[in-house]
This record gives sequence, C-alpha cells and structure tokens, in this order.
Amino acid sequence: MKPIELETETIELHFPTPVLTRTFLAADSINEALIALINTLEKTATRKNQPARTISENTTQGGFQTQLGTNILEDSNPAMRRLKQEIVMPSIEHYLANVLEVDPLFTPIEVTSWAVSLSAGDWQAPHIHPNEYTLISGIYYVCVPERPEPEGYLEFINPVMSSVSLGQQNASRLHRPKAGEILLFPPYYMHYVHPMRGGGKRQVVAFDVRLKAS
Ligand SMILES: [Fe+2]
Repeated sequence: MKPIELETETIELHFPTPVLTRTFLAADSINEALIALINTLEKTATRKNQPARTISENTTQGGFQTQLGTNILEDSNPAMRRLKQEIVMPSIEHYLANVLEVDPLFTPIEVTSWAVSLSAGDWQAPHIHPNEYTLISGIYYVCVPERPEPEGYLEFINPVMSSVSLGQQNASRLHRPKAGEILLFPPYYMHYVHPMRGGGKRQVVAFDVRLKAS
C-alpha cells in the first residue's frame, strides 16, 4: 500500500506585532540640548510624577513626567523642533505607510507627547496606551545610562493574553534602549521599564499617534 505523503506545509504568523526601530547618525547633536530642556522642566515642575495617559494612573514609579497637555514635541526649543521634524514625524509616516499601509498624506493624525526622566530606583509598571483611535505609540531615547541587563531595559509582554508559553518560546521580549533610537509599536502592546540600581538619568520623549476626528 502506498504511504500517505505530506504534500504541503506552511507555518503562518497571523497578526504579528510590528515594532519599528530606527537609529540615526549624529542624533547626539540634539540629545544634549534635549537633556538640558528636560532637566529644566523637571526643576521647574510644580508636581513630580505626572501620570501618562495610560491604563494606570501610576505607570511611572518615581522619576519625573511632563504633563500631557504641554505636548513636549510642540516646544519651541530648536533641538525639540529637529527631533519632531527630522526623526519623529518621518518615522510616523514610515510606520503609517509600511505597517498600516495607508497614505500618510491622506491620514489625518494628531500626536500627543511627553517626556519621562528616570533615575536609580525609578521604573515604569506594565501598561498599554489604550485610548480609542490610537494607531501608534512611540519612544525616542534621549539618554540611557550604561547599566547591566536588564536595568533600564524595556520589556514587551506577549499581547496574546490567552497564550501559554512552553519550551524555549518567549513570553516577553527584552529591548536594550540606546540614545538616538526611536521605537514605534502598536498601542495595545503591553510594556514596562526595569528599574536601574544606579547610573545617571534615563530620559525619553514618548508619544501617541491618534486618528484625528474630522
Ligand atoms: Fe508606555
């Protein structure tokens, strides 16, 4: 009798989680000015630890976070303008075109942004960015102290809530941040920041991209 032979086989990845990472040459030229700006905002803040627009009111544990209403990417500081025009907006457009497969020119969006500054002992609890019509969440790393893994690292958690991890299958993904790097990912992708035990400040500009109501 003829054996039954395998005819075809595929392993498809259904609904993968797209994370765009970009690094830029000569980003240090703006990072120093951005550090100075965030330090000034921290010094002049009336209240520390401003909550982000995230699922938890206390996502940032310790540290400093600018208020959402101030939308830091709209600051008139020349380095912040360059960050927006040369790094953040082109990256958003790239994600819209290549991941969401829409024409950025015909997709009305609004960007909200804030800065987060963490020192030794500060961390960010697991959270998502759950506001309706949010298309993309992003982080630009202004400065990251040299620390052993996983201090200050960003960890993403498998977004498939009912999944079971077996064998060598990862349930989370650890990302080592670098100054001058930008990350764009879906707002439903849960993430957190491991605390640092020492070192200097870890500063980022974070943002959400929402579909604008016409
Ligand atoms: Fe976040």
